[in-house]
Amino acid sequence: MVVHDVIVIGAGLSGMRAAIEAAGRGLNVAVVSKVYPVRSHSVAAQGGINAALKSTDSWEAHMFDTVKGSDYLGDQDAVEILCTEAPEAILELERMGAIFSRDDNGDIAQRPFGGAGFPRTCYLADRTGHGLLHVMYEQLLKHGVYIYDEWNVIRLVVEDGLVCGVIAIEYATGRLHRLRSRAVILATGGYGRVFKITTNALSSTGDGMGLALEAGLPLMDMEFVQYHPTTLKRNGILMTEGARGEGAILVNSKGERFMEKYAPKVKELASRDVVARAEQTEIDEGRGVEGCIYLDLRHLGEEKINERLPQIRDLAIKFAGVDPVKLPVPVQPGAHYSMGGIKIDVHGATGVRGLYAAGECGCLSVHGANRLGGNSLLETIVFGKRAGRGASEYCLGARLPDFPDSALGDAANGVAEIIKRPDKGEAAWKIRDELKENMMSNCGIFRTKEKIKKALDKILELKDRLNRVAVKDRGDAFNSDILNLIELGWMCDVSESIVRGAFLREESRGSHFRTDFPQRNDKDWLKHTLAFKEGGELKIRYRDVTITKYKPGERSY
Ligand code: FUM
Repeated sequence: MVVHDVIVIGAGLSGMRAAIEAAGRGLNVAVVSKVYPVRSHSVAAQGGINAALKSTDSWEAHMFDTVKGSDYLGDQDAVEILCTEAPEAILELERMGAIFSRDDNGDIAQRPFGGAGFPRTCYLADRTGHGLLHVMYEQLLKHGVYIYDEWNVIRLVVEDGLVCGVIAIEYATGRLHRLRSRAVILATGGYGRVFKITTNALSSTGDGMGLALEAGLPLMDMEFVQYHPTTLKRNGILMTEGARGEGAILVNSKGERFMEKYAPKVKELASRDVVARAEQTEIDEGRGVEGCIYLDLRHLGEEKINERLPQIRDLAIKFAGVDPVKLPVPVQPGAHYSMGGIKIDVHGATGVRGLYAAGECGCLSVHGANRLGGNSLLETIVFGKRAGRGASEYCLGARLPDFPDSALGDAANGVAEIIKRPDKGEAAWKIRDELKENMMSNCGIFRTKEKIKKALDKILELKDRLNRVAVKDRGDAFNSDILNLIELGWMCDVSESIVRGAFLREESRGSHFRTDFPQRNDKDWLKHTLAFKEGGELKIRYRDVTITKYKPGERSY
């Protein structure tokens, strides 16, 4: 058994930022990651990170835009922290070595982003996540954080409301390991892979949320799923909002700039839920092209595209055969981000002592019903640091808990049960594909009671079939059959929490749009959804929204 003070699960930006904070406070810290750290999904973030840096901007304006963007569901005490701590977070990243793009004065350049009243998105061309992830990894090495890469945590060990550590599988050998610690921080990212078209990496399977549900913790606001308006035709690869920030426009099959109709003031720079719905409406009403509309960058010119948007030019050429300098790029809305997640406080604490969460797998909630572009990277840095600090301070007063003898045996039995399954029968990939199709078709951008019910029935059917899936690989090394099955279990649980929340929420707010209840209804629904497992079943409760500065108002762009 290995022992650390703090174990961080996940090596994306929030996990690494949390680990660095705890290690900087003198604690013995380890990161466990199912991929090599610089392959974590944060690497795919493109357009930038928000902060009110200029004297003509303010944290209050950033906060207002964020609260409005959240359709007034964001908890405003948390949003205030996000926005007041943002400028220092950017300077800290710069001191760590992040090479932000500069403006003509040599200051950090900032571009306009959707739903923002000011150009406040700092960027490293269109490889912001890539640049920051590498900077953070250098810091991780510098701080002597121990890294278990290509290890998959399959169990949180919790006894009497206290976390004692985790059990993980080492991919290369198939061995199960016990990792004992005073504190654990979940930083496992989102679940985009439960949808057919998604910007998310293969690794985004909702693991931390699944682990939290198994530990009896609530997931908050899971019905709010962000569809990014510009993902590449069929494969869902992100075409950054930074393109529209730099002046790209959206056109339909008739060549019309349709956002003039849906958001007359800011057009393509309305918030993501608004733009994604506009696109889907154009497509559904027959003004799309093969399920897509066009993102037109041609008027920006080759020089600007190469300087500010080199990655998406490369991606469009390689994955759609279209050079944005010469042709409009076919794009469609795709699942991008989870506003919901493990319910945490502003220090990252969950309801289990010693267990913390940060980043996309957590829900504070700073994004409410719809996140603004550029606020996600910011959240990883601000609240990753806070979770690292929260866990460190907790460790100071906490003894190292006993690791229950039964934990390893229980996990080993679970794995043995998978390996013993017959090698003939239904394949796991079939269930995974049906799940993705189901979520996209029945719990996508436009939802109705009937469709959501269909989605729920299908998930319950898939969960049942999952018990009988065939396992062909009996080996120890890199046994993806085992890991796929474990992930698929979490994906089904996470999907069920999305769908149950969506079914009950009879209103439209942010990314959750019910065509049978098209209005926001603050009287009955200005509240957070909590989904948790009780007696093996998923139950729903609600809690109040924290409103401090900005009373819910009309939201138009
Ligand atoms: O479009 C983008 O570059 C995505 C940014 C974000 O999700 O914050």
